[in-house]
Amino acid sequence: MSKEQEARTMGFHSDIATTPADWLVRHQPDDPVFFFSPDTLRQTLSRFQTGFPGEVTYAVKANPGTEVLATLADHGMQAFDVASCAEMAQVRAAHPGARLHYHNPVRSRQEIDSARAFGITSWSIDRISELDKLGPIEGQEIAVRLKLPVAGAAYDFGSKFGADPQTAVALLRCVQDRGGRASMTFHPGTQCDDPAPWVHYIKACADIAAGAGTALHRLNVGGGFAAHRGQCAPDLTRVFDAIGQASRASFVAPPRLVCEPGRAMIADAYTLALRVKAVSDDTVFLNDGLYGSLMEWRDLPPPDRMHAFSADGQPRVGAQSPRHVFGPTCDSLDRLPVPLPLPQDLQAEDYLVIDGMGAYANCLATAFNGYGTARIVPHQAQSPQMTGHWRDVF
Ligand SMILES: Cc1ncc(COP(=O)(O)O)c(C=O)c1O
Repeated sequence: MSKEQEARTMGFHSDIATTPADWLVRHQPDDPVFFFSPDTLRQTLSRFQTGFPGEVTYAVKANPGTEVLATLADHGMQAFDVASCAEMAQVRAAHPGARLHYHNPVRSRQEIDSARAFGITSWSIDRISELDKLGPIEGQEIAVRLKLPVAGAAYDFGSKFGADPQTAVALLRCVQDRGGRASMTFHPGTQCDDPAPWVHYIKACADIAAGAGTALHRLNVGGGFAAHRGQCAPDLTRVFDAIGQASRASFVAPPRLVCEPGRAMIADAYTLALRVKAVSDDTVFLNDGLYGSLMEWRDLPPPDRMHAFSADGQPRVGAQSPRHVFGPTCDSLDRLPVPLPLPQDLQAEDYLVIDGMGAYANCLATAFNGYGTARIVPHQAQSPQMTGHWRDVF
C-alpha cells in the first residue's frame, strides 16, 4: 500500500490544504472533512505555557487524534490527563516517556492493574472505596477531587464526580496516613469563561487542606477553559492571572499548580466542512449530524463561527433565516435541538464550514447508519513544508 493509500485508510489525507475552501472546491468531497492546523495547535499550547502559572497537561478525551498527541509531544508537552487504558496506549504511542495522570475517579480492578503496567503513579479519587481499591499507595500521587455548587460553565460537572468538602478532608487524611502524596483537583465545568469558579474552588481547596492538616503536593485546577465559540475569543489570560492570584492569596505555601485543558487546547486547531444534501422550505439536510461530529450540539449551543459557499466557491451571502437541521441518518431524532441561522440562498451541494471544531467532535461520532467517519486534511496556511514527527501520520 502506498503512503497515500495508507493515510486515507487511517482517515487522513495527504494533500495539504492552504485554505479549506480551496481544498473543498478542488476535491468536491461528499463526506465530512476536518481540516487540522498544527500551527494553530502549537500557538494555543504556547499561550497556555506562557500564561498559566504551573504545568500544562492535555485532557486526551477532547481529541485523542495521533496528529494532536504528536504535535503536543513535539512542542514540549510532558504530561497528559487520561481517563482510560486506551488513552494511555494512545499517549504512549506518541510520547513513550510522557507522565500520565489517571484522572477518572472510578476504575475497575482490571483497569487499575493495566494502569500500573502503563506506569501510572498519579490518580484521582472522590470516595474511600476507590482509595481502598488502589491498595498500597506509598509514594504515589492521589488527588482528591472536590465538587462545589458553582455556576459559570456550560453544564454541571459536579453531578457525576467529586467529594463534598467534608469528605475531601477525610480523604486527604487517609491518603496521608497511607503514605500517599496528597494533592487536590477539581473541574469547574466545561466552556467556563468566568475566572470566579476557579477562585472559589482554589480558596475551598486551601481551607480543606488546612482542615486536614495537609500541605498539598500539587493542586490540579482541571480543564474547563473556554474555547472560541462566539464572536470574540475568550480572555484566557484573565483566567490564568486569577488562578495564580487566588493560589498565592489562599495558601500559606502555595502548591505547584497543574491544569488539564481539553476543549480550549484543541478546539481552534480544527475546521469542519459539511455538505448540504438537500434544502426544502425551512429544512436543511446535512451530511453529518447529532450521531456524528455535531453530537455535542445536543447540549451546547452551536458555535457562532460558520460560513457557507457553493460547490464552486461562491460565498452564500443571503440574509440568514433559522432552519431545522437534520443529519444524514434515517432517524428522526437526528435533528439539531434548535434551528440554525443559515443563508436563504443556501443550496444542495453547498459547503458549510465551521471553525473551532477540534474538541468533542470527531471523537464522539458514531458509525450509526454507516455515517460518522470524517477525513482529516492537514491545513498549513503559513508554511506548506510541514515539519515535526506528527507529519508522519499523514
Ligand atoms: C478530569 C477532567 N479533566 C479535564 C477535562 C477536560 O475538560 P475541558 O475539555 O472542558 O477542558 C475533563 C473533561 O471531561 C475531565 O473530566
